[in-house]
Amino acid sequence: MSDVILVEHAKTDAGAVISTVTVNRPDKLNALNRAVLEGMEQALGEVRDAGARCMILTGAGKAFVAGADIAAMQSMSPDEARGFAELGHRVGHAMEAQPYPIIAAINGFALGGGCELAMACDFAFASTKAKLGQPETKLGVIPGFGGTQRLLRRVGVAMARELVYTGKMIDAAEALRIGLVNSVHEPDALMGAARASAEMICANGPWSIELAKKVILKGRDKGLSDANRLEAIAFGRCFESPQQKEGMQAFLEKRPAKFD
Ligand code: COA
Repeated sequence: MSDVILVEHAKTDAGAVISTVTVNRPDKLNALNRAVLEGMEQALGEVRDAGARCMILTGAGKAFVAGADIAAMQSMSPDEARGFAELGHRVGHAMEAQPYPIIAAINGFALGGGCELAMACDFAFASTKAKLGQPETKLGVIPGFGGTQRLLRRVGVAMARELVYTGKMIDAAEALRIGLVNSVHEPDALMGAARASAEMICANGPWSIELAKKVILKGRDKGLSDANRLEAIAFGRCFESPQQKEGMQAFLEKRPAKFD
């Protein structure tokens, strides 16, 4: 694994693996260049191979990720820029395609590609020090790693327009208010909160979580009846698994379920 992406695995008391992936380029506020994006792709595979049941994504130093690397982009041709955007999209889709949920722990600046990376996570927690935004239009470009599309799905079209057109930075409280993050924590408590949430996820049926992740993602862009059709199929598939038997039997026997 490259040194710009750090991967750590930890076990819960019950033995489930929670992986923490840290973007580690603090001198450049973790700006995303090709090496970082390719490192992320590799890290996702490593986390999957470790059998992790949840992943936490954060940044080293004072930033989560302050955007795509402006120095690397400055002299790109239109074709190169398009290819770079496609690489960013590939990473976002790979995050969404993982069987395990990913929680963003936004410790500081999450701007441009950083905000886009956070939105490709299943949900996000922020530190009181976090600052979020899509400032690309200040640089004469638009969000290119899925920001125009995931932002409107996350916060609604009018709010997405305002954030993209003005390029303004918002603080954690505002990000919470508009639904860009789920909760806000003191800086020292952020990772603990993300881990506590990951541990709650790990206590539940992994197959049901994988299916829920798929259905929520796929259903989001469909009409309600089509989306509910996907839900019914996935609900049925839960019953193919011993995890459903164990989960329901444990309830009836008044004991905690053991999914491992
Ligand atoms: N791409 C490349 N380098 C970046 C970067 C980015 N997106 N964001 C920060 N850096 C670099 C700075 O150039 C600086 O490098 P240097 O020390 O070699 O000069 C270093 O990270 C520290 O950043 P600095 O600007 O000195 O920190 P700051 O605390 O004064 O300001 C920000 C923080 C986030 C407000 C500011 O760095 C910024 O506006 N970054 C760009 C945000 C952006 O437009 N992102 C979208 C890109 S498409």
